[in-house]
Amino acid sequence: MRVIIAKDYDGISRTAASIIAKEIRAKPRAVLGLATGSTPLGTYKELIRMHKEESLDFSGVRTFNLDEYFGLPPEHPQSYHTFMSENFFDYVNVKAENVSIPDGTVTDVESFCAGYEESIRKAGGIDLQLLGIGRDGHIGFNEPGSSLGSRTRLKTLAEETVRDNARFFGGEEKVPRLALTMGIGTILEARKLVMLASGAEKAGAVKNAIEGPLSSQVTASALQLHPQVAVVIDEKAARLLDRREYYLYVEKMAEQVEHDTGI
Ligand code: GLP
Repeated sequence: MRVIIAKDYDGISRTAASIIAKEIRAKPRAVLGLATGSTPLGTYKELIRMHKEESLDFSGVRTFNLDEYFGLPPEHPQSYHTFMSENFFDYVNVKAENVSIPDGTVTDVESFCAGYEESIRKAGGIDLQLLGIGRDGHIGFNEPGSSLGSRTRLKTLAEETVRDNARFFGGEEKVPRLALTMGIGTILEARKLVMLASGAEKAGAVKNAIEGPLSSQVTASALQLHPQVAVVIDEKAARLLDRREYYLYVEKMAEQVEHDTGI
């Protein structure tokens, strides 16, 4: 696991965007797993800048989003469909037919989720999955207690997550209680994982995910099982890490030997 500690939010955004850009330049038909939330916003901004100024080309890129609120139609202002259009897709040249986001309006949830997994497989699997982390240590909407082998399914949001997301909906009572989300098993099948975290309020989750025991109570700890993970965090989010100095030292050494870990 690479732990990259950047100075601040801009630093994590630039680092994450350059990892993603490197993937696309090496593989123009890359399959990207995308995430929502406030944390990846800077990464999307930087990718948009690279598209405009450095001709980063998304025309062959295929994308799968991690999750969507259940019950929200795509055009709902707080749906993850809207989020992705407003913050990324409207500004780059990803083809509409190459975008997949779970549909929160489906009635046959089971067959929809099986179909979502099937489309990922048919696309050749996800090359690089971008992730944020919730304060309770969730990735996607895999709340504490989610099986580490889980697949795409309907999940009940934890109270803490509902509270955290209330700011987007203008009140807790308006936040959907259910979501469709890729499972931990689905996420672990991506070839590379990049997890972002910023700010002191994520420090506990980051510590538990990276240095805590592997546990379904902190679903991000499942990243410890994956051979190609970059955890990209700012100094505030890294505040509680016991081995912080070591991670910084490893990155310095990697720079010196221009060691390529594949991420
Ligand atoms: C939601 C999303 C997650 C995201 C988390 C943290 O629960 N489903 O993918 O990582 O929020 O969001 P933020 O980045 O806004 O803190």
